[in-house]
Formats: sequence, C-alpha cells, structure tokens
Amino acid sequence: MTCFNTIDDMPARQTVLTRIDINAPVKEGVVQDCKRFERHAATITDLLDRGHAVALLAHQGRPGRDSYMALEQHADILSTRLRREVRYVDDVGGEKAATAVNSLDAGDVLLLENTRFSDHELRELPPERHAENGFVQNLSAAADCFVNDAYSAAHRSHASLVGFPAVMDAYAGPVMAQEYRHNSRIRNGLDGRTTIVLGGKKTGDVLHVMDRLIADDAVDSFLMGGLVGELFLRAEGHDVGYDVDDSRFMHKQWLAYRDTVKRLLADHRGRIHLPLDLAFHDADRERTEVAVSDAAKEEPYWDIGHETMEQYTRIIRHSDAVLVKGAPGVFEDETFAHGTKTLLEAIGTHGCFSVVGGGDTSRCIDLYDLDETDFDHVSIAGGAYIRALTGEPLPAVEALRVQR
Ligand code: 3PG
Repeated sequence: MTCFNTIDDMPARQTVLTRIDINAPVKEGVVQDCKRFERHAATITDLLDRGHAVALLAHQGRPGRDSYMALEQHADILSTRLRREVRYVDDVGGEKAATAVNSLDAGDVLLLENTRFSDHELRELPPERHAENGFVQNLSAAADCFVNDAYSAAHRSHASLVGFPAVMDAYAGPVMAQEYRHNSRIRNGLDGRTTIVLGGKKTGDVLHVMDRLIADDAVDSFLMGGLVGELFLRAEGHDVGYDVDDSRFMHKQWLAYRDTVKRLLADHRGRIHLPLDLAFHDADRERTEVAVSDAAKEEPYWDIGHETMEQYTRIIRHSDAVLVKGAPGVFEDETFAHGTKTLLEAIGTHGCFSVVGGGDTSRCIDLYDLDETDFDHVSIAGGAYIRALTGEPLPAVEALRVQR
C-alpha cells in the first residue's frame, strides 16, 4: 500500500519547514483574508501545540501579475488568526533565512519570503533536481523535517513543493491529507448527469483539465463564465474579451489558447454552454446587462447576466453532481456577485453531490454567508482539485508518498 506519513508520525520537538498555500486575492495592493489562511492557521496551531517550531514557506501570485508580491501582509493576517506573532523574514532561502530558521525555539513561528522570488522555485523539475539547488540545501540544513500542507499547489513541481522530501523526512499536513482524501474520491461520487461550472482567471488550468474531462466523457455539461467563458465567446465570433490593462492580458490569453478553444467548440459544442448575456458598469457605475450578440469589446464584463443565470440554474437542477472551479463573475464586488451567488445557491439547495473549489471561489461562501455544509466538499484548491478529477498525478503528492 502507498500512502503518506502525517504529522502524527513526527518525532517530538522538531524545527519544521512547513509549506502552506496562502496565495490570496489582492485588492488594490491589499491581501484579502480567505479560507486558505483559516485552514493553514489550524495546521500551524496543531504543530505549535505539539511543541514544534514552525518555519513557513509560501508563494503569492505569478511574476508579471499585480498579485505578485512580498509576504509581509500574509504574516500579519496569520498573526491575527493565530493570536501570536508570526515573524516575517524578507529572504527566501539565503543566509538570512537559514539563520532565522536555525534560531527558532519550540513554539516560535516565522514566515519566509515569497518562494517565487527565488530563481530556483518556478522551474518544473523532478524532486532530485530541485534537491540540488542552494535554496533547498540551505533551508533543509537549518531544519529537522518538512511538512507539506499545500495541496492546492501540489500540481506544480516547484522547488519548495517537491525538493525537500528528497533530502529530509517529509510529512503530509492536515490540510494536504484532508484535501487529498476528499478530492481523490470525487470521481467515485460522480453518478448520473454531471455538470461543471468553470470560470475565474486561470484560463490555462481550466482548458487543460476541460480537454481531459471531455476526452474521457466524465462531464455532461460545461457551464462557462469568467475569463475562460469570454475566450469561448470570442471563438464563436462575439466581440468580447476586454484588454484590461496595458499588459493586454486578454489578448495574450487569446493568442495562447484560441486554437484549443476553437477545437473544443468545434468538437463538443453540444456540451459547452456559453453566457447568453453579460453584466458591466454603465456610465453611472450601475450594473447593466447586454445580450452577447450586442456585446462590445470596449467593455470589461464583470458577471454573467440574468438570462444566463436562469439557463445555468435549469441545467444544475437537472444534474446529479455539480462541480465548481472558478467563479463566473467578479463576486468580490457586490454589484457583480449575482451570477456566482445564484449558481452556488442553486447548487447548495438542489441536494445533488457537489464540490466547490478554487482559492478565490471558496471565499464567496464566506463573503455572502452561504452555508458550507450545503456542499459535499469545499476545496481551497483550484488547479490541483480539478486535476484530481482527471486522475492526473500531482507531483507534490507523489513526492510525499512512502511504501508501506
Ligand atoms: C492556486 O492558487 O491555485 C495555487 O496557489 C497555485 O498557484 P498558481 O496557479 O499561480 O501556480
């Protein structure tokens, strides 16, 4: 049998390098608290209560994005949640970081700098290659063992996720173990008509998995929203896909994914449902909706419209299982939360097997007081959770496996 060691298997009084995933939404430079902080705070409390010292590793954003930033605010949020100081160290894996880790006493906790600031982190390499780099070498020498609690980043073969288990004792944290257990079982829960709501900003992740789910006939209906929905509308000849800033984000997405989107539409149009109408700000900053046939490229669209909500709700009500990855609209702004709230409420009250995933999407449940217990599972993972649906191995999970 293959499985993980967990923190129950750890010796006493360890200095633990602990990889968490507190990659969070950022609004005008301010990091937003979310379920990821809540769940990992419980892990940290557990480790501290057991008498360990904790050095946290985490990432935020991707190079080039506005959300790519240092982790100082994350340390403050964790301090508030834990009601104790979480010291922020502005070094990823150099001498400063190693010295800080080395000097931890039982009950101390610190957060190192954004792992993606290290040149080593983002390369997709096997564990033994990452184990050779200075970042992994320095930090592993300063600590006793490694805990990976970051299931939601487990689909990346990055240094901080797969390098440490190759050089030191490694354990799955409680969030990792719980998410792995739930998400590996989702396929078994899919019985009858299955629908998936796909949205959000991570178009590449969504398309990768959509391709696989379509190929093995796992899903009957795909309800598209968010930026990925806009790409499909563009592929169907609707002039949407606002270039939100100087980086011409949507244009780049279109160039990268137009062939995939066109192919999926040509081969599987019957299963792919696209928005019928979209919502945007009018001149008075009020919510206005427009049919996609009249949509203009100059407008940024923040939500699906009411006609789309009605059509998607009908499909949800005829489903035996509904999965969600990514929000159909920008729900953080209450004006544009209708689409996401309406679909989540329809799923939660329908009584079907249901899983809601995505770092941002799971936050909608808290923001709008939806009842988490209405869903079979609320995952704080996005890309990792939908990959688990395809049965694709997750590199960071594989790195933790032990033979028993
Ligand atoms: C996530 O938010 O899904 C994880 O933190 C991984 O982030 P990434 O998609 O930028 O690698």
